[in-house]
Amino acid sequence: MNKILDGKAVSATLKDETKEKIEAFKKKYNREITLAVVLVGENPASQIYVRNKIKAAEYVGIKSLSFTLPKSVSQSETESLVKTLSEDQSVDGILVQLPLPENLDQGKILSLIPPEKDVDGFSSQSMGKLTLFEKGIAPCTPAGILYLLKNAGIELNGKNAVICGRSNIVGKPVALMLLKENCTVTVCHSKTENLEEFTKNADILISAIGKPKFIKADMVKDGAVDVGINRTENGLVGDVDFDEVKKKTSYITPVPGGVGPMTIAMLMNNAYLCALRRETGGF
Ligand code: GUN
Repeated sequence: MNKILDGKAVSATLKDETKEKIEAFKKKYNREITLAVVLVGENPASQIYVRNKIKAAEYVGIKSLSFTLPKSVSQSETESLVKTLSEDQSVDGILVQLPLPENLDQGKILSLIPPEKDVDGFSSQSMGKLTLFEKGIAPCTPAGILYLLKNAGIELNGKNAVICGRSNIVGKPVALMLLKENCTVTVCHSKTENLEEFTKNADILISAIGKPKFIKADMVKDGAVDVGINRTENGLVGDVDFDEVKKKTSYITPVPGGVGPMTIAMLMNNAYLCALRRETGGF
């Protein structure tokens, strides 16, 4: 019981594989891969994420262009930067770190990223493709979760997958991806009544609600696979009461070192895929 889904180790291998693919890409197409990273404001968690993304880009050989805008930036100034990057032929991928300050219309800004440069897969077009199970770019955290599960050889076909959280970044897309893998998917959220009745039935439990240690051992079935994500700003505490829950699970992700590093590794792979598809017309 309680095998650890080691995102740190798996992501290191994945980044090395992406690094090799990028070296081959550069030789074949005789050009760099460029990722533009846009950070608005001074959210400390976002600053750390962005720093880690830029560091990973350097490691795999992706050129990153970093744009930091003040919290006071207007909607039209932000839109104009994203439009410029969209039209810049040397840019392969555009990442707008979320959340944006509340006065900005996040959906409108994301919708300006063309699908072929949407490294995060957050635009309505990319989400639409995901919904229709069409080829596109999958959001990084859900893609990282799926990679961890498959890499460990965990059977998904016909399993009960329960997702706590319905965010556009994790809950909704991971539900679609697990549905594509033939899971029976239930999405729970803050208004769900008797949550534990659902979680106790989960073969695969994805907790993406941003409440430290919210999932307790008595909410989990014996032998379940538990993936917990940390989206809080109060230090690195996962949604799952790890020490207690791990006594019951067959597989569990730690925090830190679980899904977080996988998100970044998938982002690097997505940037590579965007560049490759721009060369080969694969969109
Ligand atoms: N904020 C939290 N997670 C993410 C992510 O994966 N991508 C972006 N752009 N913003 C985020």
